[in-house]
Amino acid sequence: MIDKVYCADVTPEMEGEHVKLAGWVYRKREVGKKVFIVLRDSSGIVQVVFSKDLSEDAYRLARTLGIESSVVIEGTVKADPRAPTGAEVRAEKIEVIQNVEFFPITKDASRDFLLDVRHLHLHSPKVAAVMKVKATLMQAAREWLLQNGWYEVFPPILVTGAVEGGATLFKLKYFDKTAYLSQSAQLYLEAAIFSLEKVWSLTPSFRAEKSRTRRHLTEFWHLELEAAWMDLWDIMKVEEELVSYMVGRALELRRKEIELYRKEDLKTLKKTVPPFPRISYDEAIEILQSKGVRIEWGEDMGADEERVLTEEFESPFFVYGYPKGIKAFYMKEDPSDPRKVLAADMLAPEGYGEVIGGSQREDDYDKLVRRIIEEGMDPKNYEWYLDLRKYGSVPHSGFGLGLERLVAWVLKLDHVRWATLFPRTPSRLYP
Ligand code: 4AD
Repeated sequence: MIDKVYCADVTPEMEGEHVKLAGWVYRKREVGKKVFIVLRDSSGIVQVVFSKDLSEDAYRLARTLGIESSVVIEGTVKADPRAPTGAEVRAEKIEVIQNVEFFPITKDASRDFLLDVRHLHLHSPKVAAVMKVKATLMQAAREWLLQNGWYEVFPPILVTGAVEGGATLFKLKYFDKTAYLSQSAQLYLEAAIFSLEKVWSLTPSFRAEKSRTRRHLTEFWHLELEAAWMDLWDIMKVEEELVSYMVGRALELRRKEIELYRKEDLKTLKKTVPPFPRISYDEAIEILQSKGVRIEWGEDMGADEERVLTEEFESPFFVYGYPKGIKAFYMKEDPSDPRKVLAADMLAPEGYGEVIGGSQREDDYDKLVRRIIEEGMDPKNYEWYLDLRKYGSVPHSGFGLGLERLVAWVLKLDHVRWATLFPRTPSRLYP
């Protein structure tokens, strides 16, 4: 391993220190008898100056370098207010690991092309910033979950049945049987609460969704929590505490990266503090109707309706008490109104909409069987799941957070595909 100093760690206070850097050529320009290279690595950038007077060999090599060439450079730190970071490195030695003559991504590259060469697009510090924010959001989630006594579990991805409706299942051949890619770990997490009580998992979830919206991927990272002894109101508290902690830590640790995308526009992130506003589905419909949206009680809210609703809020908020007909079979019927279920979605402001879907689960065996049949599914396929309501059933609740949707909102991205390393959509399976 190369014993190197990271670009972002080169500061004016290090004036006179000898350093070794390793990274990629981000920018290059020649002025007189000098070559200025902006070197980048995972930490950020630093300016490196090659001058004929200091080292003719290094200067000559530097002149030949193309953008994205990989290099190891040795030199001396010099404080310089004109350098982008207030300090630069005067190069004495350079080892060219690979000289790149022509990097395929140029300034005028289209967005489609960037996705075609996503493996090279990942070189960009602006793309790296997204991945850093995503990693920090998950790091924060882990911190919060650990501090609050939640067990991480590792559910299967190859499954035999639907959680979120058969229409979006990816089917595959499993020897002489049929298997599916998991849409959600929920049913398995429900099984795990009988010994661990509060569990969570982070898994890829798959949805064969043909809908080409800015918030749908066919494969996304799903953070799911499930807890025994909690009702809907308890789990909503968990959701707002977790999400506000994640956003708060991202603001604390990744301010620079967030500002790259949001500039000074941090108001909604700063307002992500519990308690989040809560409105009922009934109220949501009234608000939408009063704003001229054509929607009737009982209909589902899509991205367009949610966008209108978000205009009313400056922080994430909840919509609870959805009609049974538009929600999944496992949600508990509202004892005070059997037309509804004890479900709540968390919506992000600024037009983003749903980032979390959650509910209290139906814990009554007979009601659950009835719901499975009503949805046109075969209770035989859910025998093991129904067993959970036979042997020590308890009230319990849980939710799923789409990590890319949270990242997209935090960074105000125009599509969730920019929030994932290699997006999978109906038209994209490569690279
Ligand atoms: O609302 P969903 O479908 O709920 C479930 O899957 C529950 N079984 C989760 C649970 O209770 N354990 O999905 C949960 C979240 C959504 O709010 C959204 O953020 C994200 O997962 N999501 C998607 N993200 C990207 N692309 C898709 N196609 C998504 N579908 C859902």
